[in-house]
Amino acid sequence: MAKVAVLGHGVVGSGVVEVMQKNKSVIEKKAGQTMEVKRILDLREFPGLPYSDKFTKDFQDILNDDEISVVAEVMGGTHPAFEFATACLEKGKSVVTSNKELVAAKGAELLATARKNNVNFFFEASVGGGIPIIQPLHLCLSANRIEEIAGILNGTTNFILTKMIHENMPFDQALKLAQELGYAEKDPTADIEGHDACRKICILASLCYGKHVYPESVHTEGITGLTLEDVAYAGDWGGVIKLIGRAKRLENGMVSAMVCPAFIPNDSQLANINDVFNGILVRGNATGDVVFYGKGAGKLPTASAVVSDIIAAAKAHGTSNSLTWADCHEDYVIDYKKCDIAFYLRFVSNDPNAKAKVQAKLGTVHFLNRDDQPVNEFAVTTETLNEGALEQALDELSKENIKLLGKIRILDY
Ligand code: HSE
Repeated sequence: MAKVAVLGHGVVGSGVVEVMQKNKSVIEKKAGQTMEVKRILDLREFPGLPYSDKFTKDFQDILNDDEISVVAEVMGGTHPAFEFATACLEKGKSVVTSNKELVAAKGAELLATARKNNVNFFFEASVGGGIPIIQPLHLCLSANRIEEIAGILNGTTNFILTKMIHENMPFDQALKLAQELGYAEKDPTADIEGHDACRKICILASLCYGKHVYPESVHTEGITGLTLEDVAYAGDWGGVIKLIGRAKRLENGMVSAMVCPAFIPNDSQLANINDVFNGILVRGNATGDVVFYGKGAGKLPTASAVVSDIIAAAKAHGTSNSLTWADCHEDYVIDYKKCDIAFYLRFVSNDPNAKAKVQAKLGTVHFLNRDDQPVNEFAVTTETLNEGALEQALDELSKENIKLLGKIRILDY
C-alpha cells in the first residue's frame, strides 16, 4: 500500500488527483500495490469536492505522516518547493515533480539528497509535459553517446509561431489569442522570452552530459523580436522559424547550450511540429536521430507524467533508483560567441553599395526575397561564421548606416 501526498492543487495537482482516481485499477496493477492520495496541500479552500477532506494548509501534516511514502510537488516556483522537497527526502519520502524551475535550479542538490536518504527524486513531467523523455533518455538511450539534443520545448511560443507562419498573424495578436485560449500565462514573459525553454534544455543537458547546466550559463533569446517579414524570408529560404532549445557535446568536454529562434528546413522532423505541441530530437551516436512528439503542457498530459513517476517511486520504495548528475559550478558551457554557425540576417540601408559591403565583410551570402520587399531592405543567409566575429562585423556595418533588422541562426536538424 502506497500513500501519496500532493503539494499544490492547481492545474497539474488537480490533474494528478483526477488521474490517480480515474485510472486507479490500472495504476495499482502497474504498481503491484494499492495506491491512494492521502493528503493534498493547498492554502485555498476546495469545498464540495469528493475528496475535500484530504486538504491541509499545513505542510507538517504531510511531512510528519509516516504512512506517506511518495510526495508529488506540483506547486511550481523554487521556494518553498525546494525546502518542502528537501524536507520530504530527508524524512525518507520519495519526491516527484513537474516543476522545471526547481529541477533546473536545484536538480543536482535534490538528487544528491535523495541518494543520501535512499529515496528517489523523479521529474519526468518537468520537460515535455506528457511526452516521455527523461526516462527514455536515462534508460532506453543509455547505450548512446548523446551528440546533441534539440527541441521545441515551449508550447505557448510554438502556438504563436504557428499562427505567424500559417495564418500570417502578427506576434501581438497571436500572443493575445494564446492567452485567450489559456495556453500562455497572464504574464507570459517566461514563455516568450525563452526562460521556460531554457530551464527545460538545462534539465536535458544535465541528464545527457552528467553535470548540472545552470540556466544562467545558457544564452537565451525569445521570440518577441520576430516579425512576419522574417517568417516570409524563412519561407523563401525553404523553412520555418522555431524556438529551439539545444545542447551539444563538444570534443573538449564542454557543452554548447542555447535557446533561440532558428531557421529550420521544411524537411526537418521539427519543422512540422505545430500549435502547442512539443518535439524533442535526440541525436545518439548509435541510434541516429530519435524524435519525441506530443503534448508538452496541459492538465492531464502533465499529470500522466507525474503519476507515472509516483508509480515508479512506489515500486522502488526502499531503494534509490534516481538517475543522477554531478553539481558543476565551473565554466562548463562554452561562450556562445566562440561558436560557429550560419545566420539569416535582414538589413535596411539607403546606401547603393550596401549589398557589396555586406558581402565584403561576411564572405559568401545568398540573397532572399519576399513579397512587398522595400527597395532599401535586403536579407541574406551566410555560410558558417564565428558568432563573435559576426557581431563585430555587424557593428562595423551599422557604423556605415547598414542597419540590422533581424538576426536568426540556421540549424540543420
Ligand atoms: N508554459 C509552458 C508551455 C507550460 O507553454 O510550454 C509547460 O511547461
